[in-house]
Amino acid sequence: MNAQELVDLKQQAVAEAAAAACLTELDAVRVKHLGRKGLLPAIMERMKEVPPDQRPEMGRLANDLKQALGQALDDKKAALQAAAKAGERRGFDVTLSGAWRGLGSRHPISLVVEEVVQIFNRLGFTVADGPDIETEYHNFDALNTPADHPSRDTQDTFWLTSGQLLRTQTSPVQIRVMESRRPPVRIVTPGRCYRRDTVDATHSANFHQIEGLYVDRVVSLADLKGDLGFFAQEMMGPNVKVRFRPHFFPFTEPSVECDFSCHVCGGAGCRVCKQSGWIEIAGAGMVNPKVFKAVGYDPEDVTGYAFGMGIERIAMIKFGIEDIRLLYDNDVRFLQQFA
Ligand code: DAH
Repeated sequence: MNAQELVDLKQQAVAEAAAAACLTELDAVRVKHLGRKGLLPAIMERMKEVPPDQRPEMGRLANDLKQALGQALDDKKAALQAAAKAGERRGFDVTLSGAWRGLGSRHPISLVVEEVVQIFNRLGFTVADGPDIETEYHNFDALNTPADHPSRDTQDTFWLTSGQLLRTQTSPVQIRVMESRRPPVRIVTPGRCYRRDTVDATHSANFHQIEGLYVDRVVSLADLKGDLGFFAQEMMGPNVKVRFRPHFFPFTEPSVECDFSCHVCGGAGCRVCKQSGWIEIAGAGMVNPKVFKAVGYDPEDVTGYAFGMGIERIAMIKFGIEDIRLLYDNDVRFLQQFA
């Protein structure tokens, strides 16, 4: 046994460890060299034959072999284990059953829109749609709301650099529909609206309205009262009462606000209706002749009524939701209740 043999053996053992294809092969390398009947113990056995002056050098080389092989075995083991882990992650077991992620539900805003639309469908209304990004003309001018009109101040508008705006109401869809169709018209238009409102329990800068428009030869305020009364009972139940108060909107003349009797106290007065017994639901009125003129309808030929109401308001009343922000948080614990 000479020094060169030990150096060669070290190289060979380390190479064998590095070449092992699996943990079993790797262990075989360990046993072959370091095991009780392995090559290294055999070498130690033969140290006796080495002349005493060479023994320290041979001892050092044998130790060197042991250390280098030990390191090579550890490294290879770690590498094989990491590779196995990565393989597990990539692969999947087709026999496993799928994980149940729960069923989604429709949002309360969508539920209310759908119900309102269905009720008006039964009165012969169809759904019309318009863009969220509107022209100043459709959102204000054509609706008889000139630049210096105070109602523009009450609707703090998000203006875009293009000169367009985010619609503050669904009323511009009335204009777009009448511009593109001849009367009679009977439409409802649900959609998003935007105002620079400070967000609190009852205000959101992004909310939803549904607009109604009915134009024909002879439409009267009695039609408006009858149809909104029908809507109220379908939506809130047979005991609800409806009242109309005079109001002002530039696009209707005369204009009214429509209240439902309070669904909580039935009209006696409570915290929800602020002791009034009534809940404000819709703005409405008879279409202003100036609006008809703007869209090319002859106000001598046709009359019509229009209304607009807030979807969130109805959802909050119907489902007893006290804070409008719950509708936008998308917390599944809240949304699940509507499944
Ligand atoms: N656009 C009004 C608002 O946002 C609501 C409204 C009132 C719509 C009267 C109408 C209407 O169509 O006739 O406050």
